[in-house]
Amino acid sequence: SGADFDLFRLSEEHDMLREAVRSLAEAKIAPYAAEVDEQGRFPSEALEALQANDLHAVHVPEEYGGAGADALATVIVIEEVARVCASSSLIPAVNKLGSLPVQLSGSEALKQKYLGALARGEGMFSYCLSEPDAGSDAAGMKTRAVRDGDFWVLNGVKRWITNAGVSEFYTVMAVTDPEKRSKGISAFVVEKGDEGVSFGAPEKKLGIKGSPTREVYLDNVRIPADRMIGEEGTGFATAMKTLDHTRVTIAAQALGIAQGALDYAAGYVKERKQFGKPIGDFQGVQFMLADMAMKLEAARQLTYAAAAKSQRTDADLTFFGAAAKCFASDAAMEITTDAVQLLGGYGYTRDYPLERMMRDAKITQIYEGTNQIQRIVMARNLP
Ligand code: CAA
Repeated sequence: SGADFDLFRLSEEHDMLREAVRSLAEAKIAPYAAEVDEQGRFPSEALEALQANDLHAVHVPEEYGGAGADALATVIVIEEVARVCASSSLIPAVNKLGSLPVQLSGSEALKQKYLGALARGEGMFSYCLSEPDAGSDAAGMKTRAVRDGDFWVLNGVKRWITNAGVSEFYTVMAVTDPEKRSKGISAFVVEKGDEGVSFGAPEKKLGIKGSPTREVYLDNVRIPADRMIGEEGTGFATAMKTLDHTRVTIAAQALGIAQGALDYAAGYVKERKQFGKPIGDFQGVQFMLADMAMKLEAARQLTYAAAAKSQRTDADLTFFGAAAKCFASDAAMEITTDAVQLLGGYGYTRDYPLERMMRDAKITQIYEGTNQIQRIVMARNLP
């Protein structure tokens, strides 16, 4: 029956959301994408436009004042923003990453306070797991939290923190019991204004230049004990559960970047004439576009399946989150590289957006766990 085929069709609400975000992104975010990259400045126009339309942290449940978007709707928002500006797509994506530990494991009071503030646009949320000497081996972190009466005192350095400095709120994973490795790690909410919090110089990156990446320094940061997220010793598990969900949003970012590159290249080959006809009339060019579109569609189907599993928190989400992130980011790297190739010398210049898209795509193979780590996660969690 017809209804069976709806399995592979998005709901009308999801389609409408995509249309709405696409027009907003094209009107309010795309015009600044090249400038944001060139100047390495935060896309405040994007933050404003997203906040004005309640799209800056769509995943926050309605009970905490959020838009209550499901995991697929969140993917669609990130995809459409990334299609025009990857840096800007980190606003909704990292707001989910930073706040999901609170949403998954925090007390009701923490949820009310911080998810509410995030939803109202009072501040963004960053996620602090990595350190200078603990990247892939996240459980090897050194940042310490020591109990002192009704307080915890945090000391350490977190590195590669997306949106550090512009975010008001930080989820910080820290060692509370050094004897227990991953089981001795706890999660906390730290505020930008807490005494002892400061930031390093912005990293000089290959891409996503509009999204600041800085170190976060914690120097005797004394926070009330009720800022701990969940029970003592559960911080690593919370951090990993969070990544299971948010690796799907990195896949979404990769899809968006790749779609932007494919759309641009497909338009270009119709206009660009060589040997007396548009280069799109040559089969060699058609084959490239077909391969790009095929890879993108495969990545999209896997990502949407992963989003459905994220929404239901299916047991095989860990595999699917890693698979979607790994597959979509590799596809985005290939597609953006081929898109540059289709424009030839023009693709290699900053007069066209493709070199930016190619540089932006690269990070999706690295952050929220390198694609080598994704393969380790997949192998340990075969479906
Ligand atoms: N769900 C729930 N709990 C989990 C879990 C999951 N998916 N994965 C692990 N855990 C918990 C379990 O309790 C587990 O203990 P048991 O085995 O007893 O159940 C415990 O954590 C330890 O797990 P592992 O033994 O698997 O830990 P490990 O040290 O071998 O590391 C790893 C596993 C997968 C390699 C992990 O370290 C990892 O994911 N590394 C990559 C880190 C990463 O993705 N960093 C991204 C930083 S964020 C970022 O990039 C964003 C940004 O701002 C740019």
